[in-house]
Amino acid sequence: MIFDTHCHLNAKELYKDHEKYIISAKNEGVAAFLVVGYDYLSSKIAVELAEKFDFIYAAVGYHPVDVLKAKTSELEKTFELLKHPKVVALGEIGLDYHWIEDASEREKQKEFFIRQIELANENELPIIIHNRDATNDTYQILKEHKVNKGGIMHCYSGSLAMAIELIKLGFYISMGGPVTFKNARVPKEVVKAIPLDKLLVETDCPYLAPHPLRGTINEPKNIVYTVKEIAELREKSIEEIEKTTFNNAKKILGL
Ligand code: NI
Repeated sequence: MIFDTHCHLNAKELYKDHEKYIISAKNEGVAAFLVVGYDYLSSKIAVELAEKFDFIYAAVGYHPVDVLKAKTSELEKTFELLKHPKVVALGEIGLDYHWIEDASEREKQKEFFIRQIELANENELPIIIHNRDATNDTYQILKEHKVNKGGIMHCYSGSLAMAIELIKLGFYISMGGPVTFKNARVPKEVVKAIPLDKLLVETDCPYLAPHPLRGTINEPKNIVYTVKEIAELREKSIEEIEKTTFNNAKKILGL
């Protein structure tokens, strides 16, 4: 049984055929899905999918790139969804300096990040972190703004030393398709060394398809490649990695 802790069945590439993708994933052993929002519409669809399927859970929130163009009314409607019983996390939130170079826009990202951490604490929810090329500022904010229910570092690509610091702050480390890439030296090192009880798996589909499907539209069933890679790196059985990461997901999401 696998828990895909970060998928976007709410994205346009997958939503139109979501039932097909869900069935194929279930056939490969994916038993639970966290569908993650990044703006109002995607958050709303995440909640709708969670209402339709009992094995789907929703995260709602504003991605650091999307938040810059969000209307106040959309932000409010998104945060109202936090009260829904199948919303188990706030996300994805964080910082993205890859796509945003302007200093004042980066400041705005930080403000929204902190505001959403406060909302997570008010609603007693963990958070899902998106960090791209902004590791130091992300860590600084997380250190200064304690998240009571902890959270998930989505598609973690940082160093082992940083992963250990983030675990100390209450975070789980979620690995996606890139850990299967041949040249992924650092992600493989992270998987080998972090405590197994802090490890999660995800697809981030439709993005980041694992090897040997790199470059194609990713879907939840492809998570098996990531699980297999992790089992090899840890010298454990696939079943053990599935079981441990499934239980870790339930723990952080309060299920
Ligand atoms: Ni995502």
